[in-house]
Amino acid sequence: MDSITFSLYLLLSSSLSLLIFVLLRSSIITRRHLRLPPGTLGLPFLGETLHLISAYKSENPDPFIDDRVSQFGPIFTTHVFGEPTVFSADPETNRFILQNEGKLFESSYPGSISNLLGRHSLLLMKGSLHKRMHSLTMSFANSSIIRDHLMLDIDRLVRLNLESWTDRVLLMEEAKKITFELTVKQLMSFDPCEWTESLRKEYMLVIEGFFTIPLPLFSSTYRRAIQARSKVAEALSLVVRERRRESSERGERKNDMLGALMDEEGGGGGFSDEEIVDFLVALLVAGYETTSTIMTLAVKFLTETPLALAQLKEEHDEIRARKDNLEALEWNDYKSMPFTQCVVNETLRVANIISGVFRRAIMDVDVKGYTIPKGWKVFASLRAVHMDHDHFKDARSFNPWRWQTNSGTTNSVNLFTPFGGGPRRCPGAELARVELSVFLHHLVTRFSWVPAEEDKLVFFPTTRTQKRYPIILQRRNVPTSCIE
Ligand code: HEM
Ligand SMILES: *[C@@H]1O[C@H](CO)[C@@H](O)[C@H](O)[C@H]1NC(C)=O
Ligand SMILES: *[C@@H]1O[C@H](CO)[C@@H](O)[C@H](O)[C@H]1NC(C)=O
Repeated sequence: MDSITFSLYLLLSSSLSLLIFVLLRSSIITRRHLRLPPGTLGLPFLGETLHLISAYKSENPDPFIDDRVSQFGPIFTTHVFGEPTVFSADPETNRFILQNEGKLFESSYPGSISNLLGRHSLLLMKGSLHKRMHSLTMSFANSSIIRDHLMLDIDRLVRLNLESWTDRVLLMEEAKKITFELTVKQLMSFDPCEWTESLRKEYMLVIEGFFTIPLPLFSSTYRRAIQARSKVAEALSLVVRERRRESSERGERKNDMLGALMDEEGGGGGFSDEEIVDFLVALLVAGYETTSTIMTLAVKFLTETPLALAQLKEEHDEIRARKDNLEALEWNDYKSMPFTQCVVNETLRVANIISGVFRRAIMDVDVKGYTIPKGWKVFASLRAVHMDHDHFKDARSFNPWRWQTNSGTTNSVNLFTPFGGGPRRCPGAELARVELSVFLHHLVTRFSWVPAEEDKLVFFPTTRTQKRYPIILQRRNVPTSCIE
């Protein structure tokens, strides 16, 4: 779900808009005395898009931003994905952009993405409806709900999955299966079965549609994704109708996201089936790639940092020693994993699953002595701040211990924002942290492993490893054969 990817289709329109931009730029400046952030526009037609893509296709995308920051400062103008875009690598400016969502800026996705998400998805909502639905989503994934309801399912489904592992797995695939099952359970209380697995297959086709470049309307992957989306929507509509019948006939109300969406008291109510289905599809999209990637990368970073892995194992063996072998992890256990939380933060910092967020200026906006003209795109780079040596000592190495003393950061204002901020801050942030922690617990207490092949991290079209991280596993001596 990388926002950069989302905008790729705009490549097509780049020639036109660059031309207009060049014509406008001089007139804007002279007519309105605007001071645009400095920068270069790169090649005619393509702007700097190819530089950006080739940087993000490599293991080290940071020079793209580094070069420009050292030349122009942390706020600069570039031309990517078809539009002139103001890049911010500055934490204060990022905060300003995120906090002023709906006032000075609004989120901005291309039409091909909107078609896949559905018109009524949270990611595309604006104004007061967005506010209401954002808080509804929060109230389904907040920490007390996780503690009292979701934790048990997370523990059970993670264990169930790990039980079925063979001695060689593609970790990314397994992680995707786990996060999909968890999300479906939490949204509509379904346990894994044939139905959920066939839904997942369709759903994977939808996801592929997000990453087609650069001519989605002519691409067969995109067409297949649109077809798969209507199958997913159809399957979910059936579930919604069935649930409505249950609740009117028997007065039943399940304690899940679908229940909350249908229930006036839960903050929902009054939504059409189509609205509910769009909402569910978007939640599946938002939580799936992100959480499974972070699971995979945590394991990769730990494997490459044996001291950290050893310390993590120790922490989890201690927790296991306090419990029966098959006893589920509880909220209190989650709260007593200090080193794990360092690993979680450090993985989020280094991996930057969502490298930044795109917005559009609703009006002329002044920041730091520059003016961003109305209608322009803005990219708040979260990654640039996380990778900045001024903010994080030795920023580009994986060092979970930096979080122990907080000496890893030079000051504490808004430097670490893997989940964004402001009114659109990720409502699944805590859930993602818990899922990763529980997953790591069961993984390190059950298995030891080695990478099966060398695998590289790339950042385009999404953050992932090239080979889906194949590992060879060995079971540790913990009896694990009699899961309920
Ligand atoms: C490691 C995992 C995750 C990361 C790094 C992540 C990151 C983010 C970020 C940066 C945003 C802000 C986007 C923007 O401002 O335009 C966001 C939004 C969102 N996330 Fe997550 N996310 C993760 C997991 C999840 C999960 C598990 C869920 C499921 C509940 C979820 C649901 C959402 C939704 C619905 C939004 C849109 C919020 C809105 O527009 O109001 N995310 N996420
Ligand atoms: C979480 O949401 C529930 C409603 O689903 C609400 O009653 C509770 O107060 C919320 N808890 C927190 C910590 O916000
Ligand atoms: C991890 O980051 C969060 C901010 O997202 C912070 O509140 C928390 O204290 C950090 N955890 C550790 C162990 O430093």
